[in-house]
Amino acid sequence: MKEKIKLGIIGYGQRGSILLTGILSAMADIDIQIAGVCDSYEDRAKAAQEYVQSNIGNTPVCTTDYRDLLSIKEIDAILIMSSWESHIRIAVDAMKAGKYVGMEVGGAYSLDDCWKLVNTYESTGVPCMLMENCCYGRREMMILRMAEEGALGEIVHCSGGYCHDLREEITNGAEIRHYRLRNYLNRCCENYPTHELGPISKILKINHGNRFLSLSSVASCAKGLNAYVAQKKGVDSPLASARFAQGDIVTTTVRCAGGETIVLTLDTALPRPYSRGFTVRGTKGMYSEDTDSVFIDGVHNAYDFNWKTQWGNAEQYAERYEHPKWQEYKKNICGEHDGIDWLAYRAFIECVKSETLPPIDVYDAAAWMCVSTLSEESILLGGTPIAVPDFTGGRWMNR
Ligand SMILES: NC(=O)c1ccc[n+]([C@@H]2O[C@H](COP(=O)([O-])OP(=O)(O)OC[C@H]3O[C@@H](n4cnc5c(N)ncnc54)[C@H](O)[C@@H]3O)[C@@H](O)[C@H]2O)c1
Repeated sequence: MKEKIKLGIIGYGQRGSILLTGILSAMADIDIQIAGVCDSYEDRAKAAQEYVQSNIGNTPVCTTDYRDLLSIKEIDAILIMSSWESHIRIAVDAMKAGKYVGMEVGGAYSLDDCWKLVNTYESTGVPCMLMENCCYGRREMMILRMAEEGALGEIVHCSGGYCHDLREEITNGAEIRHYRLRNYLNRCCENYPTHELGPISKILKINHGNRFLSLSSVASCAKGLNAYVAQKKGVDSPLASARFAQGDIVTTTVRCAGGETIVLTLDTALPRPYSRGFTVRGTKGMYSEDTDSVFIDGVHNAYDFNWKTQWGNAEQYAERYEHPKWQEYKKNICGEHDGIDWLAYRAFIECVKSETLPPIDVYDAAAWMCVSTLSEESILLGGTPIAVPDFTGGRWMNR
């Protein structure tokens, strides 16, 4: 067991800076050292280095080429917080260099990339964790526990979404040098599936007795971003009349080997409040994030037509079903994003220190991320079902 590990950080944009200046700085007092920082923009790489120098005290190696960090023998692990398109290439190179990988979330651009991730892990034995912080959500973990203990009966259907008004971030992409703009202009797919699919996969035991069989996606027309730009910047602004490939709402239906179905919604270009729409339906009850309510058959039936009075009742179940990780965490609250970043990144650090396998592995990463590229294909084919590969090579049945 290593007492302290050395980390290299790749990508110092919005996510990288929130994590470095927040939880990673706090962890530097415990058991990590930021030994290297990288961003392909030199000013951002330097800003990361300066932050570490001034606030943590050591001087990390600073580079615009991530391969420089991979060649530093002392670095134990790499955190990838760069743009979506770069994740898998960097992860593959890092595993080949013997560095434990923590890879931020995003979707895949090809099945070939997903196979590369799996094949590189299998040939090197170097682990890679997908840093899906929403798997550590308080409610997601409580409902996981309820499902595991049978409180909702047999799970039949789940749904969720990435429902986040990103109009400002997307349309200011040129100013803030952000990757979403080029993706929305050029590609139409379920581009961000893992925030909801991760927790759902844990409940449905994907890759551990279950797997995705096929998916089908449809996309609405794209009107939200043009309308937003016209309103904010004027009708003569180039993006007000640009042709965005990305439909405003993408709906994906997934079928699982166990017979369960999943509906995913990507909803990022129209006005709305934030939600991951996490919903779990079982033979004995259900949970719905949007009303934060639990319905148990035989307990709540009298509220059938008066359900509003029960909105928010999920908290009553926390006393019985709060996940042990959250019981522990709540004693010592710290970190951004209501604690989910802290829990996800602590899980990663502990695995690197103890040289153990991560709780969200390459098989999960490949199965969840491939939804993006398969949904792109399905949309192009008018919603045709597309088979999802079995990245475990049959081992999902007894893993
Ligand atoms: N888990 C979460 O809650 C959460 C929240 C926000 C973002 N994210 C994820 O974090 C990642 C980054 O998002 P962001 O909003 O910070 O993006 P960003 O565009 O603000 O930052 C990405 C940075 O990566 C750099 N970069 C790109 N390719 C690189 C390469 N090959 N080598 C080195 N640097 C490279 C870019 O120059 C940029 O500075 C994305 O995968 C995103 O999905 C996760």
